Amino acid sequence: MALSTQKLGVIGAGVMGYALIQGLIETQTVDPKQVWAAARTEASCQKVRQELEISAYTDYKKELADTDVLLLCVKPSSMGKVLEYLKSNHIPKETLVISISAGTSIEYIEKIIGQPNPVIRAMPNTPCIVGQGMTIVCPGSHAKPSDMDVAYQIFEAVGECLELEEAHFDAVTGLSGSGPAYFYLIMEALADGGVRVGLPREVALKIVTQVVLGAATMVQKTGRHPAALRDDVTTPAGCTIGGLLIMEDGKIRSVLARAVEEATQIAGQLGQKS
Ligand SMILES: NC(=O)c1ccc[n+]([C@@H]2O[C@H](COP(=O)([O-])OP(=O)(O)OC[C@H]3O[C@@H](n4cnc5c(N)ncnc54)[C@H](OP(=O)(O)O)[C@@H]3O)[C@@H](O)[C@H]2O)c1
Repeated sequence: MALSTQKLGVIGAGVMGYALIQGLIETQTVDPKQVWAAARTEASCQKVRQELEISAYTDYKKELADTDVLLLCVKPSSMGKVLEYLKSNHIPKETLVISISAGTSIEYIEKIIGQPNPVIRAMPNTPCIVGQGMTIVCPGSHAKPSDMDVAYQIFEAVGECLELEEAHFDAVTGLSGSGPAYFYLIMEALADGGVRVGLPREVALKIVTQVVLGAATMVQKTGRHPAALRDDVTTPAGCTIGGLLIMEDGKIRSVLARAVEEATQIAGQLGQKS
């Protein structure tokens, strides 16, 4: 099923909804004429109409009858209200419902909709904004491979997409959803290091940014383990081993791993399970 021929409704036009619509339009995955958005306030609708040049509504019941794919991009706390709205306004049972809400289970969504719509749960992250997102997807009980194809078309337009079982979604939220924030902190700290040894701040940050991009690309393109790549730059008696040992003294590995563990636990408490 080609997304290019379908009508897409994006409910929630905040950080993620806006970024996804923008990515889909910029990559010409969809024609702006086939997309509409919904938000809670008229101000957000106005912004979307002006900047993305698509239709946007606070009351979208009329759009539901002929919309093929609904992308739910509201906060977990608004999911119940939105799902009740979809149910009471009789969405067709063929409409594909894709939710990016953290912590909201497929079972919860299917139970409120109360009819056999195909449902897909997805967890993207904010680098979708620059086309470098990481999205994990999982099919619900009535989602067919053709529905998953549509989800792949959406999320591959803004980065990489991977299928995993729903049991892993809290982990994915803690690692991939929160992951960019960890790297912003690490980058800030490394840039502080550069400033400490005399580099102008903007130069230090520019260097760090390219180093992080370069290191990630090395792992991605060579397919080698980070430990092997690290060994390559660790000359005996050199400066890199000195820096690495200081990091190990600060327990950097367990600190980072435990951060993912903590975020995963919190993700599990965010939304509605069922
Ligand atoms: N931000 C991330 O890093 C990230 C990553 C992965 C997944 N997510 C998930 O993405 C979802 C959205 O997050 P976000 O950061 O984009 O949130 P956000 O910026 O707060 O945007 C939420 C949007 O939902 C709209 N909305 C609220 N209630 C509504 C309703 N009843 N009907 C229609 N629209 C409604 C809001 O409208 P107004 O603008 O008018 O208030 C707003 O446009 C969340 O479930 C989150 O778990 C976020």
